[in-house]
Amino acid sequence: EKAGYEHFMMKEMCEEPKVIRDTVSPRIKDDNIVLDNIKITADDLKNIGKIYIVACGTAYHAGVVGKYIIEKLARIPVEVDVASEFRYRDPLICDRDMVIIISQSGETIDTLFALRESKKKGARVLSIVNVVGSSIARESDDVLYTWAGPEIAVASTKAYNTQLSALYLVALDFAYKLGRIEKDYYSNVIEGLKAIPGEIEKVLANRDTIQKFASQHYNAKSIFFIGRGLDYALSMEGSLKLKEISYIHSEAYAGGELKHGTIALIEEGTLVICPMTQDNLVEKMISNIKEVKARGAVVLAIAKESNKQVCKAADVVVTIPDVDSLIAPIVAVTPLQLFAYYMALQKGCDVDKPRNLAKSVTVE
Ligand code: M6R
Repeated sequence: EKAGYEHFMMKEMCEEPKVIRDTVSPRIKDDNIVLDNIKITADDLKNIGKIYIVACGTAYHAGVVGKYIIEKLARIPVEVDVASEFRYRDPLICDRDMVIIISQSGETIDTLFALRESKKKGARVLSIVNVVGSSIARESDDVLYTWAGPEIAVASTKAYNTQLSALYLVALDFAYKLGRIEKDYYSNVIEGLKAIPGEIEKVLANRDTIQKFASQHYNAKSIFFIGRGLDYALSMEGSLKLKEISYIHSEAYAGGELKHGTIALIEEGTLVICPMTQDNLVEKMISNIKEVKARGAVVLAIAKESNKQVCKAADVVVTIPDVDSLIAPIVAVTPLQLFAYYMALQKGCDVDKPRNLAKSVTVE
């Protein structure tokens, strides 16, 4: 039950620190990552041609982060695709490829069929699944469970954070086995992952700024999420969350794409949400903020505490603790989930059971 919370969604966001810990800690043994009983050797990894990440909705957005980090750390080419596209496009997979399937429920029909298609073509399938014994878990070669526990709210929150955590473990493990990262770096990122639950506690404790911002802006007709690099992936998830529970139209754009069309839609009072956790891209994002503000936009930025330049550029800044940019998405998604929650609440929407949506899409 709701354990004293008004909504499952809030309860589930508040569980994020715990479930991330449950997902990460059992896989770290003597400072090394051990992915349960999944036997993937360095030789297996050297023979992989490509990795395909396939999923739907929020799980797909976790996959977009997965692509960035697996390519960055392990230097294996990764394609990420929504399952309903992948399964019908006769994908070029072969038996040297690996397919990573991501699903909270483990029952999403398009994702399940994408898995079957991959197996038919001889690929090795590793799935990142939350529900033990679900169809996707049963049919995969290897399963890495996210230990998010039952997720009741239709809008996925804690499952996403654990999907990201699992993907970071996979990316780090592959990269280290392949000799693509040094031991020190590997250990530092592991330490960073272990500290994430504490960082999310701080974000949750600090939710007043977001609540206040939502109470002032819930009448917005259309909202843009703009980010670069991992923050672009995060923007997609922030936008989906907002749409599904508050019914406000929103879109996510890569910062650099603004000038290629979207900026035409920015007018006096348009809300623009900018996650900006990537140190090497902060300056570029500040330029984007200047561009939209010059056209009258109201900007809410999500930035690291120490990033003082952002405060001068944006109208309101929600800070997150100073975490390494690589792992920042696991922390920075929580303010976006909170934003969607408070906007929906202000509008009087049914936060846990949004219209037209089912928790698990088991029919086409
Ligand atoms: O159970 P799955 O992770 O396979 O579900 C995939 C999507 O249906 C799901 O993430 C959906 O987009 C959520 N409503 C997002 O909050």
